Amino acid sequence: MATPIQIPPHGGALVDRVLEGSARGSALERASHAPKVTLNAVGLSDLELIGNGAFSPLTGFAVSADYHSVMDQMRLSDGSVWSIPVTLAVGREVAESLRIGDDVALVEEGGRLRGILELADKYDVEKEHEAETVFGTTESAHPGVARIYEGGEVYLGGDVWVIDGPMDAPFAEYQRSPLETRALFAARGWRRIVGFQTRNPIHRAHEYLTKVALEISDGLLVHPLVGETKADDIPADVRMRAYEVLLSKYYPLDRTLLSVYPAAMRYGGPREAIFHAIARKNYGCTHFIVGRDHAGVGSYYGTYDAQRIFDEFTPDELGITPLFFEHTFYCSKCADMASSKTCPHGDSDHLTLSGTKVREMLVSGEVPPAEFSRPEVAQVLMEAYRPEVTTT
Ligand code: ADX
Repeated sequence: MATPIQIPPHGGALVDRVLEGSARGSALERASHAPKVTLNAVGLSDLELIGNGAFSPLTGFAVSADYHSVMDQMRLSDGSVWSIPVTLAVGREVAESLRIGDDVALVEEGGRLRGILELADKYDVEKEHEAETVFGTTESAHPGVARIYEGGEVYLGGDVWVIDGPMDAPFAEYQRSPLETRALFAARGWRRIVGFQTRNPIHRAHEYLTKVALEISDGLLVHPLVGETKADDIPADVRMRAYEVLLSKYYPLDRTLLSVYPAAMRYGGPREAIFHAIARKNYGCTHFIVGRDHAGVGSYYGTYDAQRIFDEFTPDELGITPLFFEHTFYCSKCADMASSKTCPHGDSDHLTLSGTKVREMLVSGEVPPAEFSRPEVAQVLMEAYRPEVTTT
C-alpha cells in the first residue's frame, strides 16, 4: 500500500525542539549556569507542546510582536493564522533579574529541569487588552481571564528547547506526539482523518458527531484534552476510563484512535476552536469537529460563534477543514439522535442536559438516562462521583 500524502503541518514543517544525546548534554551544561524560572502546570504543558510540534510553527514563548499581532490580528507577525498567544508570565522582580540574550533554565515545582528558554524579549502583560481580545470579556469570572489576572506582570519571550518530559506522564499508553500520530495514520493508510477535541465524557451527542464524521472519513482521532481544566470539569482520569469503555464497546477500533492532547484548556470559545483545529492539523488530522459552543464556558459565547470565526480565514491559510455540527440531542419521536437540521419535532420531544445538570445528577446518585449517556459511561461516572452507591 502506498503511504498516503499527509496534510502539511501549520507553517509547513513540524517543529521538533526536544533535545537528545549530545545536544541534550550540552543544554544540561548551559542550564546548570543559568538563572531558573519555575513553570506552573500550564507553562509546562505549553513547553511540551511547543517542543513536540503540536504548536507548530511556534518555536518558543511569544515575543512582543507576536503577542500583539495575535491579539489584534489573530496572526503571528509572519502573517500565519494564530488565535491565542502562548506566553510565559513572571513577576516583575524575576523579569528584572534576567537579561535579554540569557539562557533561562525552565524548571518544574521542586526544581526538576525541563527545558531552556533563550530569552529574546521581556515586556508588560496587557492584561485587560488580552482578556478582551482573546476571550471577549474582561470579567475575572471567566477562567481564562482569571488565569491572566492571577499571572505575573511581565511576559518572557524566546525560543525554547525541551530537555526532559514529565516524569510520570499520565495515560502513558495514549501519549503520542504529532510525529507518532502521523506515523500511525500512515501505517493504517488513513487519508481523511477527523479530529475530535473534548473535555467531557463522550455522551450520546458527542458519539453522534464523531460517527457522522467517521461516515465520511477514513479514521477518527479521539483527542481528549487532559491538561489543566477548571475544578468542576470532570477529571481526566475518570474521562479516560469512560472513553476506554465506550470505544471498546461501540466504536470500530480499526478506524478509531484514542490519544491524549496534553494541553491546558483556555475556555476561549471561538479563538480556542481555531487554536484546537490548528493543533490537530499538526497531529495530522485533515478535518476537525466544531459543534455547539466549542470550548465555551458559561454564557460568554453564542452557540455558533466558534463556527463563524472560521469564515474569517481562507481554507488555504487554515489548511484543516472544520466540520460544523448543530446542537444535537436525543429525540423521543425520532427515537434517535438528531439536530434541528434533521428533526421536525418540537423541544418537548428533545432530551438535552447541561454539564452542570449531569454533575448534579451524579452527585445526588441519579443515573443519567441511556438516551443521554451510554449505561457503561454512566457507570464509570457514577463510580467516580458516588462510589458508595454503585454496586457492580
Ligand atoms: S469542549 O470544550 O471540548 O468544546 P465538549 O467536550 O463538551 O467541550 O465538546 C466537544 C465537541 O463536541 C465540541 O466541538 C462541541 O462543540 C461539541 N458538542 C458537545 N455537545 C454537543 C451537542 N449536544 N451538540 C453538538 N455539538 C456538541
